[in-house]
Amino acid sequence: MAADPSSETPSGEKLYEGKAKIIYATDDPAVLLTYFKDDATAFNAQKRGQIVGKGQINCAISTHLFQRLGAAGVATHWLETTGDRTMLVKALQIIPLEVVVRNLTAGSLCKQTGLPLGQRLEPSLVEFYYKNDDLGDPLLTGDRIRAMGLASEEQIGTLRRLALNINQLLTDFFMDCGITLVDFKLEFGLDAQHQILLGDEISPDTCRLWDQSTDDEAQRVMDKDRFRQDLGQVEAAYQRVLERVLAQSPKN
Ligand code: TMP
Ligand code: ASP
Repeated sequence: MAADPSSETPSGEKLYEGKAKIIYATDDPAVLLTYFKDDATAFNAQKRGQIVGKGQINCAISTHLFQRLGAAGVATHWLETTGDRTMLVKALQIIPLEVVVRNLTAGSLCKQTGLPLGQRLEPSLVEFYYKNDDLGDPLLTGDRIRAMGLASEEQIGTLRRLALNINQLLTDFFMDCGITLVDFKLEFGLDAQHQILLGDEISPDTCRLWDQSTDDEAQRVMDKDRFRQDLGQVEAAYQRVLERVLAQSPKN
């Protein structure tokens, strides 16, 4: 039987294991290997589970989106996808901020403000959360980011501009897939030249994606909210996102 590449354990030193990915060293200190797991968590890991096949799906979707963003001039950490769950990326000094862009109201925004679900936000919101599990990833202000020394005024401006540009590119792309990009989370880091690059992943774990073919509030959900809210059919929804994304790939 042919070897299943998904079962191969990367050979480099394990540097860090997160909730959804493992980071390994490679022979080149400027390059890391990211391994996408099936593990899923929500509510700061109070809810844990597995989404079978998620690692492969998120690796494939992220690969495709990083390639598209790269082709549109966005600097990302992606170098090469080497297996069905593994990609080589540039080593970055991660800025410990989760940059969230919101086009429609959902999730914690509705919970914290009382705004009803699904209202268009014009202009889109850019929010910064502190990437710190012990503190529960709190929402920050520009003043707090500066006071904490997480980013300079100029870097905050750059992150906002990059996030809004990425939002435009991803919104247009998902529109072509028949999917509404409701909101999403990005992470950025600095390379050796102190340039800000897009890092982490872009997948149904990190985006809210609504199927435009239905208005049904539960049926339209194609992202990790199916897991968070116990809506069922989680794997099938992730798979459908992948199929639609691949259908928009340039054919070689
Ligand atoms: P929120 O509405 O829960 O704040 O989430 C906003 C977006 O960020 C949503 O697309 C899901 C994504 N997200 C992550 O990728 N990781 C997280 O830890 C959280 C809380 C949200
Ligand atoms: N990834 C986050 C966690 O488990 C939360 C989420 O995506 O809802 O902590």
